Amino acid sequence: MGHKEFKYGELKEVVEDAMALGVKLKFSDKLEILSRKAKIDGFDLPNALAVHPMEGADGELDGAPGELTKRRYERFSRGGAGLLWFEAVAVVPEGRANPRQLWIHANNLPQFQKLATAMLQQAQEEHGSGHTPMLIMQLTHSGRYSKPYNKPVPILAARNPYLDAAQKLNDDVPILFDDELEKLEDHYVKAAVLAHKAGFHGVDIKCCHRYLNSELLSAFTRKGRYGETFEGRTRFLLNVVRKIKDCLGKDFIVTTRLNIYDAIPYPYGWGVDKADFLQYDLSEPKLLVKLLWESGVKIVNLTMGNPYYNPHVNRPYDKGPYTPPEHPLVGVARLINGIGEIQKDIPQMAVVGTGFSWLRQFSASLAAGTLEDGLATIIGYGRESFAYPDFAKDIIKNGSLIKEKCCIACGKCTDIMRSGGTTGCAIKDSKIYAPIYGKVCRNG
Ligand SMILES: Cc1cc2nc3c(=O)[nH]c(=O)nc-3n(C[C@H](O)[C@H](O)[C@H](O)COP(=O)(O)O)c2cc1C
Repeated sequence: MGHKEFKYGELKEVVEDAMALGVKLKFSDKLEILSRKAKIDGFDLPNALAVHPMEGADGELDGAPGELTKRRYERFSRGGAGLLWFEAVAVVPEGRANPRQLWIHANNLPQFQKLATAMLQQAQEEHGSGHTPMLIMQLTHSGRYSKPYNKPVPILAARNPYLDAAQKLNDDVPILFDDELEKLEDHYVKAAVLAHKAGFHGVDIKCCHRYLNSELLSAFTRKGRYGETFEGRTRFLLNVVRKIKDCLGKDFIVTTRLNIYDAIPYPYGWGVDKADFLQYDLSEPKLLVKLLWESGVKIVNLTMGNPYYNPHVNRPYDKGPYTPPEHPLVGVARLINGIGEIQKDIPQMAVVGTGFSWLRQFSASLAAGTLEDGLATIIGYGRESFAYPDFAKDIIKNGSLIKEKCCIACGKCTDIMRSGGTTGCAIKDSKIYAPIYGKVCRNG
């Protein structure tokens, strides 16, 4: 069975297709497990649902949150998820993925402070004073996908023939020196100090989707301190984690959104089987997660793939830049079971799972089954949170998701972003985003 768009009317049809495809997915109707509270790194998480980091490319040019950013986080905060994983925020201006990407620095700290305060207040107004969602700020450097002033200005950590060819990069694009990477580590620490001052409970040292830090994990061919060996390739991430822990102490959460599988051939992909890159080999990611635990990281958010190169691995979809070579359920199962393997390997780590949005109204049963089977500790929703920001409230209070409110995995949010627009859901939040999408289409 190849790629198919979502056409399911009943859960049993999903289960039948999963069986026909030979993929293992556990569904459960005991949705109350998703209201499970947890103590994570000293923080009382009010439930087991998370909003994944979802960039809207709607910041001000100085990196501060814009009006649509504030609107988005108000919707997320009122939506009831126990964990609000704030989108990618650049640590240096040249590392922004678009000119409207957020970027935190001393001059715009008050705007971030105001936003974090508003988020906590809105969450409590809606769900009572006992509901304090965990706020994590994702810190990023976009590396080869840097586009700070409307045209690409790639900054490489390593050459990669697959990605270089896809981006049409010549050999003259320089690779960051070891000393430059070491200096960059300190920018993450500075940004973490600012995030702490702004009122976030923790920071994520973003290490996924082939942005700079994630590129280092598979820098097998890079010489020097940040490449070749496992120790070299993981040095940047572990150094940053340890430096922030040293600086801010144990009461500030340090975490990472981590790729566990790139789906790019070895020696240019991380977490891949050396003989067959279409299979994952999680031995190195497992080792890294253990080292993170020993360095004081108690929660990780796991993901796969590259949204520019192999987006069907990153986010199973109905419509996207190409027709995927597999049924979306295969992609959903890869994400859930791969992440689950890591969770099983280190059960004491709180693992945030990814891969649920494509299943729309049936995703809540999959989320419950995933928790029952111990394949994650928290369930994160990405595109669904754009379309249906109060998904958590509906799951927890009403015991179901409303079909008509669900994301339809149509790819329009990505299309808008790739075309340089400020993004959101053109279908379910159409008053704001349908005109933006229309403009994108008119401009080709
Ligand atoms: C428009 C858009 C923006 C995104 N922004 C981020 C981001 O800032 N940081 C991040 O780690 N992932 C980002 N993602 C990826 C999502 O967090 C998530 O991993 C992906 O959509 C798969 O989850 P889903 O199936 O629930 O949508 C983004 C995805 C989309 C479509």
